[in-house]
Amino acid sequence: MIRVSLIVAMAGNRAIGLDGGMPWHISADLKYFKRVTMGAPVIMGRKTYEAIGAALPGRANIVVTRNEAFERADADVVHDLEAALRKARAIAEIEGGDEVFVIGGAEIYAQALAAADRLYVTEIDGTFPGDAFFPDLPAGQWREVSREDHPPESEEGPAFSFVVLARMR
Ligand SMILES: NC(=O)c1ccc[n+]([C@@H]2O[C@H](COP(=O)([O-])OP(=O)(O)OC[C@H]3O[C@@H](n4cnc5c(N)ncnc54)[C@H](OP(=O)(O)O)[C@@H]3O)[C@@H](O)[C@H]2O)c1
Repeated sequence: MIRVSLIVAMAGNRAIGLDGGMPWHISADLKYFKRVTMGAPVIMGRKTYEAIGAALPGRANIVVTRNEAFERADADVVHDLEAALRKARAIAEIEGGDEVFVIGGAEIYAQALAAADRLYVTEIDGTFPGDAFFPDLPAGQWREVSREDHPPESEEGPAFSFVVLARMR
């Protein structure tokens, strides 16, 4: 079975983005994201792709847009989430992988949550201003399978935790 996982960093108020970017800088989280997703297909909304600025290296990048004219040399472009998941699963199968990742942003997470088997959530302590938010998780559907707490990286920085949630079957 090829697992569908969402990976997100979110603050206590569920903020994940502000003005097209991330409301914090936590280098350990960027390293964690890279380590977890490396080698696997990654699915993202067109706005997240533009925010990153280019395809993520070492991973098949699948970008979802409604714009039929949108094309990029470094990414597979699809026009709905189902097509993105089909493409990602097909690539994982060919490459012998067992997991595909939905890497945001808010619009894509909201649509992909129902298809997800696992969530990798970096919980960031405190409230941050945001204009993009991670959806609420329906009660009784997710159980925490691991949690790793980290102190702030700097005096002003927030503490954070790497949490993995699995869908209850
Ligand atoms: N904290 C984190 O872990 C994290 C991760 C990723 C992103 N972010 C943040 O999230 C924010 C971006 O999120 P967002 O919600 O604004 O944008 P997004 O989800 O990245 O992209 C939205 C775009 O995806 C396309 N789209 C969405 N649903 C579609 C569908 N069903 N079929 C076809 N295309 C579809 C549309 O592209 P077109 O307009 O081209 O049609 C839409 O405008 C940024 O601030 C970013 O930094 C945070």
